[in-house]
Amino acid sequence: MRPLGQRLPLLRSPVPGPRSRAAIDRLARFECPAITARRARRAQALGAAHDDPIVWAEAIGANIVDADGNLFVDLCAGFGVATLGHRDPEIVQAARDQAELLLHAMGDAYPDLTRIALLEELAHAAPGGLCQAILSLSGADAIDAAVKTALLATGRTGVITFQASYHGLSLGATPLGAYKSAFVEPFRRIVHPDVRHLPFGAPSSMVRDALRTQQVGLVLVEPVQARGGCRPAPPGWLHDLREACTRTGTFLAFDEVYTGFGRTGRAFACEHEGVIPDLLCVGKSLGGGYPISACLGTEAAMAAWGASRGEALHTQTFLGHPIGCATARVTLARLPQTATACAVLGESLRRRLTDAGLTVRGKGALLGVELGAESLRISRELLQRGFLALPAGVDAEVLSLTPPACLTAAQQDAFVHALQELL
Ligand SMILES: Cc1ncc(COP(=O)(O)O)c(C=O)c1O
Repeated sequence: MRPLGQRLPLLRSPVPGPRSRAAIDRLARFECPAITARRARRAQALGAAHDDPIVWAEAIGANIVDADGNLFVDLCAGFGVATLGHRDPEIVQAARDQAELLLHAMGDAYPDLTRIALLEELAHAAPGGLCQAILSLSGADAIDAAVKTALLATGRTGVITFQASYHGLSLGATPLGAYKSAFVEPFRRIVHPDVRHLPFGAPSSMVRDALRTQQVGLVLVEPVQARGGCRPAPPGWLHDLREACTRTGTFLAFDEVYTGFGRTGRAFACEHEGVIPDLLCVGKSLGGGYPISACLGTEAAMAAWGASRGEALHTQTFLGHPIGCATARVTLARLPQTATACAVLGESLRRRLTDAGLTVRGKGALLGVELGAESLRISRELLQRGFLALPAGVDAEVLSLTPPACLTAAQQDAFVHALQELL
C-alpha cells in the first residue's frame, strides 16, 4: 500500500461521520457562529443531504484524515498553504529544532538569529530589488503593511484595487477586496473611505484616468486572482499598470499571498511577465503551515518609514516568530524545485481535465475548472467521495484546485474520474 500522503480516498463512515458531527456541535457552542458553517441545520430544515464540514484530525502529503478516520485527498492544500504537502518532514524538523532552541523572541526589541537569516534569504529569493521586508503573521497583515508603506512614501491616501479581488479581512484589508460586498458593508463606516475598484484587466486609459483624477498612493493587484476565480491577469496588463504607476509616482503592490513561492510554476507569479512591483505581499505557503507573512519592498520604499526611534512605528508581539522564520527558510531553500513541481503538476492536472472535456483556467498549480452554477454542488459531492476542492469566484463559478505539489498521478486520475462521474 502507498504511504499515507499518497493514498486515494478511503471512507469508513458517511461524510461527515458521527465524530465530526459531534465535534461540530461542540464547536458551535464555543465559537462565534459566523466562523464555521453548520450547513446541516439549514439543510435538514430543507430536507437536503447532511453537509456539515468534516473535522480534521491529521494531515500529511496530499491526504487529510478526519475525526472518523476517513481519508481524503486535498486539492486545496489547506487554502494554498501546504504547497510542499501537509506536515512536510523538513518543515516539521525545522519547527522542532527551533522549538528546542528559541520558541519566542522579542519582535522589534530583540531580534533573533533565525529572523535575520530569513530576511537575508527572502531578499535573495525576491525578484528585482525587493530586498527589505516587514514580517507579520497573516496575509492581511502584509497587506496592511503595504497600505501604510505606500501612504508614507507617497503622502496620498487613495487606493485602487480590482473587482473580485480578495486581500484578507483585517480592518485595513477588508475594504480593499471586492470579492463580496457582504464582507465590507457592515463595517463601511469604519474602514478606509478612499478605495476604488476597477475592472480586473481594466484598459490602460481607465487606469491612467483614475490615477490622474484621484489622490492615489497605491495600486494593489493579484497577478492571478485566486479566491476571485483563478483568473490570471491579461498578458501585458501588469506591464501597463507598472508604467502608469511609475509615470504618476504611485506605488504598485502585488498581492502574492496565494501565488507566491512556486504556486503558479514560477517562484512568484509576477515573474511570468517580468514586472517588478514596489511592494510584494506574501504569506500562506511561506511558513509551510506555520503562520508567517511579509510585505517586501525596495530599499527606497521602506526608507519612507524612517529609522526606528526606539519604539517601532509598526510591529507585533510575534513579529518574525522564530518557528515561522525557521520553517520559512525551508520553503525558500526548496523554492526552485517547488516552482518546477507546481509547473509540472499544473500541466498534468490541466491535461487530464481538458482531456475529460472540461474548461480550465489559471496558472501552474492554481487552476479553476469552469463549472458555472454547478461548482458548489460538485464541491459538496466531491467531499462525499473523499476529495476536498472549494468553489471560487464571485458567483462561485469555478471549482478551484490548488493542490500540494506532491499530488500523485493516481490521485489526479481518481479526482478527475470522480469529477466526471458527478457531472
Ligand atoms: C490573494 C490573497 N491575499 C490576502 C489574503 C489574506 O490572507 P490571510 O487569510 O492569511 O489574512 C488571501 C487569503 O486567502 C489571499 O488569497
